[in-house]
Amino acid sequence: MIEVDFVLPDGSRERVYGREGYSLMEVAVRAGIAGIRAECGGACACATCHVAIAPEWADRVGPPHLAEDMLLDSLERTQTSRLACQVKLKAVLDGLEVRVPE
Ligand code: FES
Repeated sequence: MIEVDFVLPDGSRERVYGREGYSLMEVAVRAGIAGIRAECGGACACATCHVAIAPEWADRVGPPHLAEDMLLDSLERTQTSRLACQVKLKAVLDGLEVRVPE
């Protein structure tokens, strides 16, 4: 199982575990992480799964693809913003930290 820490807007942390191949959004929704609404169900169409990858993890997570990047432009994004539905869990992401925006 891959461990992911979600840092919530109030600074609290929630640690969740997900299987390789699942998306960051799927594990967040299953764990009931507040602020990850995922209204489009992972179709890269709503941006309600926006997270900011902790900078030290950004290289391992990688950049957004073009459609995701365009959707992120509609938000107050950070340099490490990603849509959680577009990030697949893999072994090198074990211990990942992401921030949930307000
Ligand atoms: S769940 Fe809608 S864009 Fe990620």
